[in-house]
Amino acid sequence: MLQQTLVVVKPDGLVRSLTGNILTRLSETKLEIIAAKMARPSRALAVKHYQHLKEKPFFEELIQYLMGELHDRRKVMAMVYWGEDAIARVRQLAGATNPEQAEPTSIRGSYGRVRGGIFENVIHASESEPEAEREIKLWFQPDEIIMDLYPTTAVTRASVTQRVWA
Ligand code: PPS
Repeated sequence: MLQQTLVVVKPDGLVRSLTGNILTRLSETKLEIIAAKMARPSRALAVKHYQHLKEKPFFEELIQYLMGELHDRRKVMAMVYWGEDAIARVRQLAGATNPEQAEPTSIRGSYGRVRGGIFENVIHASESEPEAEREIKLWFQPDEIIMDLYPTTAVTRASVTQRVWA
């Protein structure tokens, strides 16, 4: 089944210069990258991303972690991978959510750690098709993705101010 999935290299992955290693590992899946960008997650984005965990005792730390406040590096790399069974294949390579329980050869088993009760597990990967759709729509606009994944509508906004190259 052809699927798309959101992958986020979290701030610990960037601060430890693991992006290259992680992308190399993910290339084993033979999936295609159809969107990629560096992003500085706002609190609002982080809260929406982890909205299903609002009641968890570690929620605030989780938000701070995604925003980069735990690593003094307010930067993540967000990507959409596309291809056959993309969700399961990325999650298989990523390994278990808890890095201490992840297969040692997996990405999280290789590079993740648990610190202060928080899983610093280096990457996020969508867990289901509905979650992938919700997350991809949260992180990317349609024109930032080189394939038409979901229905869109055209909106003309004359009064929108945006920065352009001077
Ligand atoms: S649940 O309720 O634990 O099954 O939720 P799940 O959808 O698996 O997502 C859990 C995300 O929270 C991060 N996280 C932790 N989970 C559980 N326990 C602790 N202590 C914890 N610390 C952080 C976990 O990494 C999941 O985020 P992602 O980005 O998917 O890795």
